[in-house]
Amino acid sequence: MGAMSPYAVRIVGDPVLRQKAAPVVDIDAKMHKLVEDMFTTMYAAPGIGLAAPQVGVQKRFFVFDMGDDEGGQQVLINPEITGSDGEWTYEEGCLSVPGRYFEITRPKQIEITGRDLDGNEVSFEADELLARLMQHELDHLDGVLLLDHLDADQAKDAKKFVRELQMQQYDDAQAELAPRKRLGLRLR
Ligand code: CO
Repeated sequence: MGAMSPYAVRIVGDPVLRQKAAPVVDIDAKMHKLVEDMFTTMYAAPGIGLAAPQVGVQKRFFVFDMGDDEGGQQVLINPEITGSDGEWTYEEGCLSVPGRYFEITRPKQIEITGRDLDGNEVSFEADELLARLMQHELDHLDGVLLLDHLDADQAKDAKKFVRELQMQQYDDAQAELAPRKRLGLRLR
């Protein structure tokens, strides 16, 4: 995360990542600004997809960019998977579980509907990487993380990693608080 990033991406352990997000009702100016800031945050991370709960916003939408050949910057609002087919095991990562990839099996193809930022209904027949990205981001809207898709061996391995990640988060937060605490004491 660079200094240019409008948001800090929430890391596993943050309760906001475990809540079910609410449908988007109004696609207003505030929402447009939020989407813009989420793209900036996503590129800075860097990542190819980012769901609203990952920046602490409990709304059902995500942004993604798989490159110009795949349509560039896109937003999917109130997404719903309407069909799926096949099975595909592939390495998957998450900005909220940084530094680690896991082999995860998911449907290879999906049909998904939702709305774009203009409020128009859109649908995708997505395959492989795009299908995976969309399933991963939609999971975030339901409080589900890739850690929930691990088999027993992977879960055991992930447990230690996640604990260390959370301890690091705690240390970082304490380090950020420390100067403020000192200032507080001086003022008192
Ligand atoms: Co993720």
